Amino acid sequence: MAASVRLLVRRAIRVSHRDITVSAAGVCGRSFCRCFSDAAQERSTHFGFETVPEAEKADRVYKVFENVAQKYDIMNDAMSLGIHRLWKDMLLHAMHPQPGARLLDVAGGTGDIAFRFLEYVSSQQERQQRRAARSSQTLSWHDISNNYSTVEADRPRESTAVVCDINKEMLKVGKQKADSMGITTGLSWVVGDAEELPFDDDQFDIYTIAFGIRNVTHIDQALQEALRVLKPGGRFMCLEFSKVTNPLLARLYDVYSFQVIPVLGEVIAGDWKSYQYLVESIRRFPDQEEFKSMIEDAGFYCVRYSNLTGGVVALHSGFKL
Ligand SMILES: C[S@@+](CC[C@H](N)C(=O)[O-])C[C@H]1O[C@@H](n2cnc3c(N)ncnc32)[C@H](O)[C@@H]1O
Repeated sequence: MAASVRLLVRRAIRVSHRDITVSAAGVCGRSFCRCFSDAAQERSTHFGFETVPEAEKADRVYKVFENVAQKYDIMNDAMSLGIHRLWKDMLLHAMHPQPGARLLDVAGGTGDIAFRFLEYVSSQQERQQRRAARSSQTLSWHDISNNYSTVEADRPRESTAVVCDINKEMLKVGKQKADSMGITTGLSWVVGDAEELPFDDDQFDIYTIAFGIRNVTHIDQALQEALRVLKPGGRFMCLEFSKVTNPLLARLYDVYSFQVIPVLGEVIAGDWKSYQYLVESIRRFPDQEEFKSMIEDAGFYCVRYSNLTGGVVALHSGFKL
């Protein structure tokens, strides 16, 4: 079934589910659309420490990243003292992707994970070719010519990375970065919502979401979508800020987050509020164990996590079987 048809079906199912909920509450004497929008208004969620109607959250998150897009990378380096690069490297190290793998990086923003992925698989490929060349040095000419045709046939498919993000401004900055890095193949940029991914079922070997899932309104829906688009055997990997385990580090981290980060946001990006949201949204995100349960509830297997920098960040992973 084409992705667009599937999206329509899913939307219809969700809308009818909401309609039933509203009817049960006895509100549904009015038109369908009115019922629908009232229901969305009535349900609330959090935007940082604020409570907002669910229907508002996505727009407010969109504005945050629209405002910070141009300064996003500089701010990441400044806020984390460059440590976000190590966290992302650790994600790739744990992923250990092989040539031919297809990656979907959701909430991929300015492309950091996708760039690292392409670099990693190309270095893996070079290493494998060097190894094959070394072992062929001891072969006879006959063996070499036989092997040559097998190697050609066995040549791995090109690895591909798709960066999907709801925010056009973030993707625009990412594309400019790709151009300046000279990355021309194996990479595509797609505007899309983590809750309704514009991809068919069973498409990707790896799904990543780095520092993105806490911004999504319905995390369970995003996890369902991750499961849907992964191939059987495919891997879900999520980097997200989490709960610091050491009480002393937690204190220092709190002071740093609330006293320093918004100030950096104001000085570097001229935007205190967006960075205030950032630190607040981190505190509202489920802790390591709770998020692990959510991933399991979505239908993933072998779910586990590891803490990075004492739990400032956690790397969760699970498999679609
Ligand atoms: C903190 S940035 C992370 C960017 C990148 N993954 C990184 O690690 O640098 C969060 C990203 O999530 C995106 N985002 C927020 N809500 C989203 C949604 N519902 N679907 C897809 N992307 C979303 C934002 O536009 C933003 O680019």
